[in-house]
Amino acid sequence: MTDAGEAARRSTTSGRAGGPPAPPAPGASALGTGRLETAQLGAFTLESGTTLPALTVAYRHDGPGPAAAPQALVIHALTGSADAAGDWWEPLIGPGRAFDTRRVGVLCANLLGGRYGSTGPTSLDPSSGAPYGAAFPDLTSRDQARAQWALLDALGIDRLVLVSGGSLGGMVALEVALERPDRVAAVLPMAAPAATGPLAIAWDRIQLELIERLGEDGLALARQLAMTTYRSESDFAERFGRAIGPDGRPEVVSYLAHQGRKLVERFDPDTYRVLVGAMDRHDIGRGRGGIGPALGRLAGSGTRLTGLGIAGDILYGPAQVRALVDAAEAAGVEAAYRQLNSPKGHDAFLVEWPQLTGFIEEALRDALAAAAA
Ligand code: COA
Repeated sequence: MTDAGEAARRSTTSGRAGGPPAPPAPGASALGTGRLETAQLGAFTLESGTTLPALTVAYRHDGPGPAAAPQALVIHALTGSADAAGDWWEPLIGPGRAFDTRRVGVLCANLLGGRYGSTGPTSLDPSSGAPYGAAFPDLTSRDQARAQWALLDALGIDRLVLVSGGSLGGMVALEVALERPDRVAAVLPMAAPAATGPLAIAWDRIQLELIERLGEDGLALARQLAMTTYRSESDFAERFGRAIGPDGRPEVVSYLAHQGRKLVERFDPDTYRVLVGAMDRHDIGRGRGGIGPALGRLAGSGTRLTGLGIAGDILYGPAQVRALVDAAEAAGVEAAYRQLNSPKGHDAFLVEWPQLTGFIEEALRDALAAAAA
């Protein structure tokens, strides 16, 4: 159990995104509210040994609680929020959807280090009373998974039928399962590898250097570079071709500039640096004797793994997800590879709703059947 897990204050408050948390209504449950909630989870020690004096985690839970139904955890990607059910995975969560909230409780939390309500660089450092900013410590995907478990402990959710997410969310999903394999029936990482590879680290390094040198302008450029890795050659060819816009610039150039501007409006350089760093450090084998032995933990507990690769993903593509699945199978895990076909590339896990619905329903159905057996 993490320090924060042990120290969980079991204190939750309801609030609106972006605003100060309101005190909980008498008798209100922090589960099943379908609203942004905030949990104060006490001190939290990172893999690096640094202790954050006070961990806050923002989350949203939809559907029945653990006394009435199995619970699923979904995890956002790089710049996302806890609002999966109302925003970035909205078509997948709700009554009659892939995560059917009539039958399964669904939790999503803003990642440790994130921008939307959880402790991160824009939070106040209790020791100084000022925002952490550039002083916020480096994180790992494992730290972020442990923060998810600290929240689960505080909410009284001790078992997960499925944990899933894409990209950084898929990396953290793997770590959530590996931290407590006996508590997780199945994990469905999408477009996520066992360990971040050198090409992704190279792209991230350029982004981080842009931010270090240019601040907010660098953040906009970093987003532009990142967007070219989130899409595919065929997507850009089909959407933009060589078309020139009314301002004389290629359409693809104004598209990227727009995406860069949009991120600067809602994000900040320090948070981006911390989250990209967590992605760079992702390696499920670290401290566990390598990737094979790490995955062996899932075999021991009967945790199933379905790796979802996306055709045309140049960032964490099918070969990397297949390698994860192969390593899991070699370690004795009940593992399967599935492929999502889309011209979109990496971002397909945020766009291709009918295919995603099929893969999630399959993983959930198998996990529920295995849990009931
Ligand atoms: N010039 C300028 N702007 C343009 C344009 C052009 N030629 N073509 C499209 N746009 C703008 C649209 O007006 C729209 O603007 P708005 O969002 O302000 O309304 C925006 O680009 C649409 O973006 P697009 O990428 O086309 O949307 P999509 O529906 O294909 O994808 C998302 C949706 C959410 C996946 C995508 O926008 C996104 O945010 N991707 C990044 C996700 C991410 O962080 N992934 C991280 C993985 S680690």
